[in-house]
Amino acid sequence: MNTEENIIKMDMGALGGGNASGEQILCLGIESSCDETSAAIVDSDRNILAHIIYSQIPEHQKYGGVVPELAARAHILAIDEVVRRTLATAGKTMNDIDVVAATAGPGLIGGVLIGWMAATGIAQATGKPLVAVNHLEGHALAPRLHAASAAGASLKNGVEFPYLLMLASGGHCQILLVRGVGRYELIGQTLDDSAGEAFDKVAKMLGLGYPGGPVVDARAANGNAARFKFPRPLCDKPGCDFSFSGIKTAARTMLDREPAPYSDGFINDFCASFQASVVDCITNRLANAMDDARVRAAMPKTLVVAGGVAKNSAIRAALERLAAEHGMLFAAPPMNLCTDNGAMIAWAGLENYRAGRVVDAPVAPRPRWPLTEL
Ligand code: KG4
Ligand code: ZN
Repeated sequence: MNTEENIIKMDMGALGGGNASGEQILCLGIESSCDETSAAIVDSDRNILAHIIYSQIPEHQKYGGVVPELAARAHILAIDEVVRRTLATAGKTMNDIDVVAATAGPGLIGGVLIGWMAATGIAQATGKPLVAVNHLEGHALAPRLHAASAAGASLKNGVEFPYLLMLASGGHCQILLVRGVGRYELIGQTLDDSAGEAFDKVAKMLGLGYPGGPVVDARAANGNAARFKFPRPLCDKPGCDFSFSGIKTAARTMLDREPAPYSDGFINDFCASFQASVVDCITNRLANAMDDARVRAAMPKTLVVAGGVAKNSAIRAALERLAAEHGMLFAAPPMNLCTDNGAMIAWAGLENYRAGRVVDAPVAPRPRWPLTEL
C-alpha cells in the first residue's frame, strides 16, 4: 500500500452552505463498502470539517476491476490512519464528536465489516451513539449536504424532501421517490446490469482501463454520437425499468467486427455513441417516472441524480434539461460527493441521528440491503 500516493485530502469547510441553526452536531462517518477507505467529519450546518479518501483504484487497476479480497486487506491497512488523519485535519478529538456512523451495507462484505467494526469499536470505547448507514442512502442524501447544478455551480442549500432520485452507481440503477430519511419508494430499477457496470465493461472492451466511466465520459466529449447505432432497450415500452445488457452486447458485437487496435477517432466516436444510448435510456425512463401516479401525487420539486454515474457530464446536462421541461429543479451532488466517500456517510449518519435512528442492538453488516427495507 502506498498511502501517500493514494490519499486524497479534502478539507472542504469553505463549501458549507447551511445556516447556523440550533445545537451543532458533529458526525464522524466511515465508508469502506468498495474500493475507497474514507472518513469525514460533517456538522449540522453542512460544513465538511475534514474529508480523507484513501483510493485503492491503483491497486485494482491491473485486474480490470475490484478484487474483493484485495480490497478487504487494503481497508484493514488503511482504516486507522484514515480516521486518525480525519480527526487531525478537523483539529478534533473523539471527545468533540457527537455521533459515529459507518456504512453497514450493501457492498463487498469484507470491506463493509472492516469499516463497521472500526465504527462500532470507536462508539463503544467512547460511549457515543452509533448509526448504521445504508450506503445507498449515503448517495441518496448527499445532495442534501451539498448540491450543484449541471454546470457544477454550487446551489446554496441542500435539496428538500420529497425529490425524485436517479440513483446510478457501479452496483445499482434505480429511480426512487425520496420522501424523507429512511422513506424510499422504488419507482423503477434495472432488470440486469447497472449503468456504471455498462460504462466499466465498454471501457474494458476498448482497453481504456478501470474505472470506465470517467474515461468514456472524457472520450465521448470529442466523439460523434451518430456514428454507431446502439439500441435503447425498453424505451419503446411504458414503465420506469432499465436494461443495459443489450447495450453491452451491441458493443461487443460491433467491436468483434472491427480489428483492434482502435484509432483515437474510433474510440471517441464509440464512446460518444454508447454514452448517448445510456443518456437516452435514463431520460426516457425518468420522463415516465415523472408521470407515475405516486410521483405526481407526491409533487417532488427537484430531480436529483446521485451515485458515481452522476459525475457524467452528458447525463447531468440531459437531466437538467428534462427537469426544466417538466417544471422541476435539477440538482446533483458536487463531483467529489458522487463517487464513494465518507462525507456522504457522515451526513446520512447525522440525518439518521436527528431522526432518532441510532443503533441500540448489535447490527450484522449486510451485503444486500435495499433502500426499501430501511
Ligand atoms: O457510487 P460509486 O463510486 O460506487 C458504487 O457504489 O458502485 O460508482 C462507481 C461507478 C463506476 O461504475 C464508475 O465507472 C462510474 O461510477 N463513474 C462514471 C463516471 N465517473 C464514475 N460513470 C459515467 N461517467 C462518469 N464520469
Ligand atoms: Zn457507491
